[in-house]
This record gives sequence, structure tokens and C-alpha cells, in this order.
Amino acid sequence: MFITLEGPEGSGKTSHIPYLVEYLREKGHIVFPTREPGGTSIGEQIREVIHDLKNVEMHPRTETLLYQAARAQIVEQVIKPRLATGEIVISDRYADSTIAYQGYGHQQDLEQVRALVKYATGGLVPDLTVLLDLDVEVGLARKRKDNEWNRLDAYTVEFHKRVRAGYLEMVKQEPKRWVMVDAERKWDEVQEELRKVVEGRL
Ligand code: TMP
Repeated sequence: MFITLEGPEGSGKTSHIPYLVEYLREKGHIVFPTREPGGTSIGEQIREVIHDLKNVEMHPRTETLLYQAARAQIVEQVIKPRLATGEIVISDRYADSTIAYQGYGHQQDLEQVRALVKYATGGLVPDLTVLLDLDVEVGLARKRKDNEWNRLDAYTVEFHKRVRAGYLEMVKQEPKRWVMVDAERKWDEVQEELRKVVEGRL
């Protein structure tokens, strides 16, 4: 089973995943957590280039292609082989981040972006995608406190609002794959719901 977590900045995905993984392992599942961009040596090198605050001149198409390069590598090197042996793979972001950020956020042609994503993933679609949804300004304020500010965080609030709206649109378009969780609540409540949602699907 392939599970992805998505959300606007500061939604808490990264802090929730280790606890979710631990919980599932205690239940006897074999779980492999990973993240995008990254999760492979090549992918982590690409991540540095994309997120470096110095790279202000990066064009949205360059950004889109770099994410796809990292994605193609992780799909082939990590995700597909693990799924083939029956493991549960949980990814902190995946293809829907490109649709939300590069498609809706940068307002690039959605059909072209979808075609690139399909090429990069080889058509691999998650079985379940959880959207940790929250108000954009609340999320950005959380992220500023965490000190993990990257080049994309520095895009305008309007950009991030388009990203969130994009996610909400995707949930509507594919209600069977997506589950939305309100991430503005207390951390424990969000974790509990996340566990219920994933266990429900397993
Ligand atoms: P984060 O997951 O640590 O917040 O960092 C990932 C950043 O990269 C985040 O700002 C979202 C962005 N991103 C894209 O814009 N497109 C993508 O395809 C992916 C995977 C991430």
C-alpha cells in the first residue's frame, strides 16, 4: 500500500509521520517512510538546489522539472521495489505537491504539469492520500518558528493560498483517494485521526 501525506506549509506532516510509522509497526506492519523531494542520494542533492534561498532566479519550469527528476529516481529506486515486496510506503509529499505548488501555485498549464508528473512517476498513483489542511497564514507562522524556511516558503501568501485551494480542488476531484484531516487542531487529535484514517484503509 502506498500512502502519501500532503498539505500546505506548516501542516505538520513531517512531525506526524514518525509517530504514525511507529504505531503501524507496533501493529505488525512493515512500513517504510520517505520524503519528497529527497529520499535518495540523487534526490537529496536535487532538494538542496531547489530549496536553496540563493537560487532566486529559478524559473517555475526549472523548478517543476527538478521535482520530477527527484521523483523519477525515488519511484524507481525506493518506492516500487518496496511496494513489490508488500511493504507499506508512506511518503511525506509526492506527485500532488507538484500539481498544487507548480500547477496551481505558479499557475502553469495544469494539463502539461499533469503529463510531466505522469512521466516522472511512470503512472504510479497512491492508494491513499491524506491532506493535512490548515489556514495558510497559520501554517506559515508555524513554519517560521521551526526555522526550516526554504526558497518556496518565501513565495507570496497569495501563492500559498492558491496551493491550498488547489489541494481542496483535488480532494473534490478524487474523493476516493483523498481524505482530508483538519490540521489546525491539537497535535494529539490530528495524530489520532491520522491513525484511524490509515488503519481504516488497511
Ligand atoms: P517540506 O515538505 O519540508 O515543506 O518541503 C518541501 C517543499 O517543496 C514545500 O515547500 C513544497 C515543495 N514541493 C513542491 O513545490 N513541489 C513538489 O513536487 C514537492 C514534492 C515539494
